[in-house]
Amino acid sequence: MDVAKTIADIRKCVATARAAGKTVGLVPTMGALHVGHVSLIEAARSRCDYVVVSIFVNPTQFGPGEDFEKYPRPEEEDFATCARHGVDAVFAPGASEMYPRENLSWVSVEKLTAPLCGRSRPGHFRGVTTVCTKLFNIVGCDVAFFGQKDAQQAVVIQRMVADLKVPLEIVVCPTVREPDGLAVSSRNKYLSPQQRKDAVQVYRSLVRCRELIAAGNVDASDIRTQMCEILRQVPGIEIEYVSIVDAETLDEVDQVQGRILAAVAVRLGSARLIDNILVDTSGQ
Ligand code: PAJ
Repeated sequence: MDVAKTIADIRKCVATARAAGKTVGLVPTMGALHVGHVSLIEAARSRCDYVVVSIFVNPTQFGPGEDFEKYPRPEEEDFATCARHGVDAVFAPGASEMYPRENLSWVSVEKLTAPLCGRSRPGHFRGVTTVCTKLFNIVGCDVAFFGQKDAQQAVVIQRMVADLKVPLEIVVCPTVREPDGLAVSSRNKYLSPQQRKDAVQVYRSLVRCRELIAAGNVDASDIRTQMCEILRQVPGIEIEYVSIVDAETLDEVDQVQGRILAAVAVRLGSARLIDNILVDTSGQ
């Protein structure tokens, strides 16, 4: 496995793969790799001949007071995880490689970045879309892999690629969960043992949502209320949002119909947890 720290080096690796006629897949990450990331690597390996994982804790997607400094950076472990899972090249640039001077050029997606996480994290998605554009331009992949865990991010990236005619395909992979249902996340490390136990309520609220819809409840406001009740069983939990939105436009819905996304964000201690499920009522 190659480890490239510079843009020139990763371009050389990819050029060699291309010269051998290989298709190229990219898995963008911020490192602290876990089974969720590994599922993307596996999806990339099954679709592409040559798999690149990028590891870069992107400063421009963190707001003031967020966890940029304390975000885990276990570099050697991450390289070992990549090697173990058959990654062909890791791109692990430093901040000055990606942002060598004041960044004056930004990619931002309108509307879709306003609701949900956009409300409490102004500028976050602009940082994500800008760094992903840089990564796509640097690596020149055919396919890039994202997780449903960050549902809004996936919708925003798909729209950016479609609007700007970026010549690659986006594949969105299912959320990987712990045995109790908690979505695997690098930020779960911030939870105390008690908070970790309590965190399952986030998933339970989504399961309740799915059950209510399956039972024929289409009243989004009623469903949201019942989801909040489940979350409030956790002492000290702060609910940031409990939303039921159209899966494509991310507009809040009154009536559950077609493809909807139920999404939750909470604060538990120092951790901010997000999770979601997609529900398609059109086939029911
Ligand atoms: P990061 O949080 O490291 O996540 C990298 C990718 O892994 C994202 O596409 C995310 O949705 C996916 N992922 C995380 N947890 C997952 C889980 N439990 N199941 C399935 N997929 C999961 O998301 C980012 O980094 C950054 O915003 C990035 C896109 C790299 C841009 O900086």
